[in-house]
Amino acid sequence: MKVLITPRGFANYGLDQVKYMESKGLSVHYNNTGKQYTKEEFHKLASDADAIIVGVDIIDRELMDKCPKLKVICKFGVGTDNIDLDYVKEKGIFVGRTVGSNSKAVAEHVIALMFAESKNLYGTIKEVKEHKWNKPTGQELSGKTLGIIGFGMIGKNLANFANGLSMKVYAYDAFEITDEVAKEYHVEKKSLEEIISESDYISLHVPLLDSTKNMISTEEFKKMKKGACLINAARGGIVDEETLYEALASKEIRSACFDVYSSEPPKADDKLTTLDNFLLTPHTAARTVESEKRTCEMSTQIIVKHLME
Ligand SMILES: NC(=O)c1ccc[n+]([C@@H]2O[C@H](COP(=O)([O-])OP(=O)(O)OC[C@H]3O[C@@H](n4cnc5c(N)ncnc54)[C@H](O)[C@@H]3O)[C@@H](O)[C@H]2O)c1
Repeated sequence: MKVLITPRGFANYGLDQVKYMESKGLSVHYNNTGKQYTKEEFHKLASDADAIIVGVDIIDRELMDKCPKLKVICKFGVGTDNIDLDYVKEKGIFVGRTVGSNSKAVAEHVIALMFAESKNLYGTIKEVKEHKWNKPTGQELSGKTLGIIGFGMIGKNLANFANGLSMKVYAYDAFEITDEVAKEYHVEKKSLEEIISESDYISLHVPLLDSTKNMISTEEFKKMKKGACLINAARGGIVDEETLYEALASKEIRSACFDVYSSEPPKADDKLTTLDNFLLTPHTAARTVESEKRTCEMSTQIIVKHLME
């Protein structure tokens, strides 16, 4: 049986896992090109696969119809918005996710973005290298309010880290957060509206779904504090980027820090990237050595279990 692995991480951090799968009699094809597969490459390689470990490549109806043997898909991570889950169900294909494998990495990245923003690191590092000696005054995270929208694996890890920085942490989730969980993570349960209007930092950790698409838009920006910083390390599309541009350019809110974007990479003429109060990383929140290794291990376990047992 053939396993196709598209994420590049396996070539660096998962070769022992490739060997393990081979020792189980599986024929493994992993991406060692150093680049994301093109759609054509992906479709060709997937056509005779029994299982796919997939990163961001699109698994839609067109792809699945070309893969008659496909039985198991494992997302290298958690966000399954690149997979047509309705058609997967229709086809009887199992979909696994490596739940929790990268939550620490993403939560740390959010903390890093908050520090970069509050201490002006993004601009000042560049300026000193350009021999400019400006000394903007920053602000402390300690004592500030962090509102977490989506209190799953990443949201909970973030709450732990933020508590360690003496931040006041609010949490909201579509599912009820029990009193026990709120106590365990030292968070105050709040409504979405309260988080939007009362937080100094607002961090999004919901999946991209129809119900979360553009969940932050004109009305939400109006309700935010003038000094608010919006962080999106979840998915592009959850924030309406047109209205974000207006909110940042007019200083309706102070700043935004994004790891994800509706177009990745952002288009060359995107106005947002011209703004000094918009900080951007290239979808690297989950990319740490530790998280890549963990994700390779967990996805391998999922494939072996669901393909062979
Ligand atoms: N930047 C990155 O590299 C990166 C890496 C990993 C995950 N992510 C994104 O982060 C998201 C969260 O990851 P996770 O591991 O915490 O997932 P998770 O499934 O553990 O948590 C998601 C939480 O969002 C909640 N939720 C769903 N819809 C909601 C809504 N409308 N309003 C409020 N809450 C809602 C769910 O109930 C759940 O508790 C993923 O779906 C993925 O898109 C990004």
